[in-house]
Amino acid sequence: MNFEPPLGQRAGMSPVASHDAPLFAPTMLAQVDVRAEAMSDWSAVRAVHLAAFGAHRQVVGNLVDDLRDAVARGEGLSLVAEEREQIVGHVLFSPSLLDAPKRLVPVQVLSPIGVVPACQKQGVGTALIRRGLELLIGRNVPLVFLEGPPAYYSRFGFQSAADLGFRKPSLRIPDAAFQVLRLPTYEPWMTGTLVYTEAFWRHDLVGRRDPKA
Ligand SMILES: CC(C)(COP(=O)(O)OP(=O)(O)OC[C@H]1O[C@@H](n2cnc3c(N)ncnc32)[C@H](O)[C@@H]1OP(=O)(O)O)[C@@H](O)C(=O)NCCC(=O)NCCS
Repeated sequence: MNFEPPLGQRAGMSPVASHDAPLFAPTMLAQVDVRAEAMSDWSAVRAVHLAAFGAHRQVVGNLVDDLRDAVARGEGLSLVAEEREQIVGHVLFSPSLLDAPKRLVPVQVLSPIGVVPACQKQGVGTALIRRGLELLIGRNVPLVFLEGPPAYYSRFGFQSAADLGFRKPSLRIPDAAFQVLRLPTYEPWMTGTLVYTEAFWRHDLVGRRDPKA
């Protein structure tokens, strides 16, 4: 895989500067290592997402399987959090496009992230996201999008993408859940519609389905 050194970062170290403001508070678990996912981690990563999202969400692991090709090409990031040689968390960043008036802009999407329930609320998710954002800044990625609760992601500097003029890829994504982080190489002309990569559509993991529809 194609990651910039050094990986194997300790949680709680090296906060990075963002486009706007200080991004991160220190994490609590000093013993969690965040490193690039290896092929030998694949089954443990699937187990993490099953534990985090529930067994009926095998589809999350399937999405991860399909996004690994992009990671292998150096176009994404797949990071694991390891505590005492156990994989306790995983995050994946993958490439998507922003359809801006001037041209298509390569951006990244943070999805999925999962931490095993026994290790939640101890800074593992924070360490994974922090390290991923550091690496993406190093790659000059201008924008990171996600769908998720603002109450969690605002601590990293994510903001309402709609409020900043971005258009969501589906009307089924609640406005508040559509979030973006502008990194240092972002420029104001980079606006428009987020176009998810095909795997998110194939696994029907965009927005929310209406059970009554
Ligand atoms: C979301 C998740 C990755 C966070 O990982 P974590 O290691 O528990 O997070 P951290 O320890 O870094 O941060 C904990 C804080 O996040 C908050 N938090 C966690 N999940 C949250 C959520 N869904 N909405 C709002 N806040 C949330 C906790 O309440 C805690 O708040 P505090 O710092 O004020 O006490 C983890 O809870 C998880 O795997 N959840 C199930 C899968 C999931 O929902 N993935 C994300 C989909 S968008």
